[in-house]
Amino acid sequence: MSVFTGLTDFDPAPSLHFSAAVTVSTKAPDAPVVGYLVAQNGEVPGEHGLNAAALEAAGFEGKAGQTIVLPSSDGPMTVLVGVGEIGELDADRLRDAGAAFARVTERHGDLTLTLGEIGDVAPDVAGQVVVEGALLARYRYDVLKEKPTVEPITALTLVVEGRRSAGVRRGAARGVITAQATNIARDLANTPPALLTAVDMAELATRLGKKRGLDVEVFDKKALIDLGCGGLLGVNAGSAEEPRMIRLGYRPAGSRTHLTLVGKGIMYDAGGMALKPADDVHATMKNDMSGAGAILAAMAQLEALGCKTAVTGYLMCTDNRPSDTSIAMGDVLTVYGGKTVEVMNTDAEGRLVMADALVLAAEDETNAIVDIATLTGAAMRALGTQVAGLIGNNAGLVAQVEAAAEVTGESVWELPLERRYRDDLNSDIADIKNLGGTNAGAITAALFLDEFVAGKPWAHIDIAGTAQNDRDTSWRPPGCTGFGARLLVELALDFKRPAA
Ligand code: BES
Ligand code: MN
Ligand code: ZN
Repeated sequence: MSVFTGLTDFDPAPSLHFSAAVTVSTKAPDAPVVGYLVAQNGEVPGEHGLNAAALEAAGFEGKAGQTIVLPSSDGPMTVLVGVGEIGELDADRLRDAGAAFARVTERHGDLTLTLGEIGDVAPDVAGQVVVEGALLARYRYDVLKEKPTVEPITALTLVVEGRRSAGVRRGAARGVITAQATNIARDLANTPPALLTAVDMAELATRLGKKRGLDVEVFDKKALIDLGCGGLLGVNAGSAEEPRMIRLGYRPAGSRTHLTLVGKGIMYDAGGMALKPADDVHATMKNDMSGAGAILAAMAQLEALGCKTAVTGYLMCTDNRPSDTSIAMGDVLTVYGGKTVEVMNTDAEGRLVMADALVLAAEDETNAIVDIATLTGAAMRALGTQVAGLIGNNAGLVAQVEAAAEVTGESVWELPLERRYRDDLNSDIADIKNLGGTNAGAITAALFLDEFVAGKPWAHIDIAGTAQNDRDTSWRPPGCTGFGARLLVELALDFKRPAA
């Protein structure tokens, strides 16, 4: 970490040390803030002397995401949280309800929520998503501010009927763990580049791995030279800070399946010699390690969740800066394994660092490779900030990623791996170049990655758009989103060997 920031011993993952006490009770406790889930045309909790007509007159109809606060001078502050039509209630709506409750109560740290209306949603799912919604919605990156902007949730009590309490309790405990995955990933991406370099990332992974049951191997510059990781080394050439490749291993006893994750870890993307303009997009480029951050955050939770699949993670960490020692346009790099790449644009650096890891991943005994990267502006152009691009060479694996995304509410949309565009990457002097044509930039980037996976089942998630939120809705506050951390957890928990 650099000294010039004036901050020493800075913690890049404050969410690791933060935990709300989440409990489940069958009796409403004496609490300062009490929320109730209310369905549209559903029952209104009677004890407040309210009826549906009075609430409607005040503008509350129980629509999904609607809230009304009933202040009180002596009793608790009461909040009604709409969940919409009971017949349409699902996990996404309940997560939104948890978020809506946490948002209107942002000055309070001790919350109680009565889960009256959960429709047909299974109790463990309901417990998990309500907790996720609340903890994710209340997240703020406040460590560099004098005062926090919202009150952190210190205690959250869910009140449920006895027959649902065991399930809700199980789910709520999982929700604490999955929400922490997203919030750690948010922390890492939000941390300014001087406070989280590739070297810092490796130190954090080492510390975290020890606590969370992961083997951690760190490859420093010398080790990367010995191995021949020319992609990562080439991108790093312009930096004063060393690169790091971090290999994480989660090895549960008796596992029969193995999933490998590869993450782009550009700690700051200035574009290299092809310096980016100083605009709003460049100003978000500390988040260019969001893929690596999502993998570290996800893998840190696998042991606690009892994941049965073995998982390996490759985090490819460096920054991409212009300097006298940067690689130039036209330079040729030799990626791990020997393929040569002509660098036509130093700002297309993500695919260069990913290539080394994909070859390494394909050499391992693994059933599937999933990579996650803030790879292309083109993916953001195509799908915006709320939907990530998904491209793969195996329909079964793509379907598993889609299913996980559906569960966690992190939207993905498949784009084709259209091999007719592969010629766009032909180089006159090397095996391939790192730049496609004007069109289909997200697809040509994926076609580049596809060159390095040796035909193994592979899926690629392009989170260039979704890593940074430009709006403020439900459990998604603005800023770095941690997109993919919960998706990867879910993918690993439910992973099945895809047919080749
Ligand atoms: N990190 C960027 C991709 C990106 C762009 C993420 C905008 C988030 C918002 C990536 O390294 C990059 O610079 N990609 C270039 C590739 C191009 C030079 C082929 C891009 O998308 O413009
Ligand atoms: Mn770039
Ligand atoms: Zn980048």
